[in-house]
Amino acid sequence: MRILAISGSLRAVSSNTALLEAAAALAPDGVEIVLYDGIGALPHFNPDIADEDAPASVAAFRAALAASDGVIFSTPEYAHGLPGVLKNALDWVVGSSELVEKPVALFNASPRSTYAVASLTATLTVMSAKVIGEASVTVQLAGRALPDGGIAADEELAGILREAIAAFVDAVR
Ligand code: FNR
Repeated sequence: MRILAISGSLRAVSSNTALLEAAAALAPDGVEIVLYDGIGALPHFNPDIADEDAPASVAAFRAALAASDGVIFSTPEYAHGLPGVLKNALDWVVGSSELVEKPVALFNASPRSTYAVASLTATLTVMSAKVIGEASVTVQLAGRALPDGGIAADEELAGILREAIAAFVDAVR
C-alpha cells in the first residue's frame, strides 16, 4: 500500500513535515508512506490551462496522487485559513479528479489551528475525497523543540501516530 504525505508548510524545520516524516518512519510492514515535496514548485492555478497542457510539475503531482492508495495531509494554519501553497495544489486537481473517492487523513500539529482543519475538510469533501475521521489526529508540536527523529522516538506521539496509521490502513483496504 502506498500512501502519499503532503505538508502544507514549506518551512525547512516545519513541524507538520516532521509529523509526516515520523508517520513514514512508523509505517507498518507493507505500507509505504512517501512525502511529496513538490507542491512549492507548482505554478499558480489557472483554469485556462487545459489538463493536457499542464506543466510538468502539475503532471507529476497528479501522477503521484493517482499512484497512491490514500493521502495524509498535515498543514499549518495561516490567518485562519489554509496556506496558499496547499490550496493552490488542491485547485490543480479539482478538475482532473485524482482525489475523487481517495481516502484522506488530516494530521494537525497544533490544537490552536482549528480553522485550517475545518477548511481543508470542507475543500476535500467537496472534491469528493473520503475524509477518514478515525485516522485524523491533532498533536501538540508547536513550541516543542524535538530533535530530528524525536517525534517517532516519543512514546506518546508515536502511539498516536501508529493508531492513526492503522485506522487509515483499515479504511483504505
Ligand atoms: C501563523 N500561525 C497561525 N496559527 C494559528 O493557529 N492560527 C493562525 O491563524 C495562524 N496564522 C499564521 C500566519 C502566518 C503568516 C504564520 C507564519 C503563522 C502559526 C502557524 O500555524 C504555526 O506556527 C504552525 O505550527 C507552523 O507550522 P510548521 O511550519 O511548523 O509546519
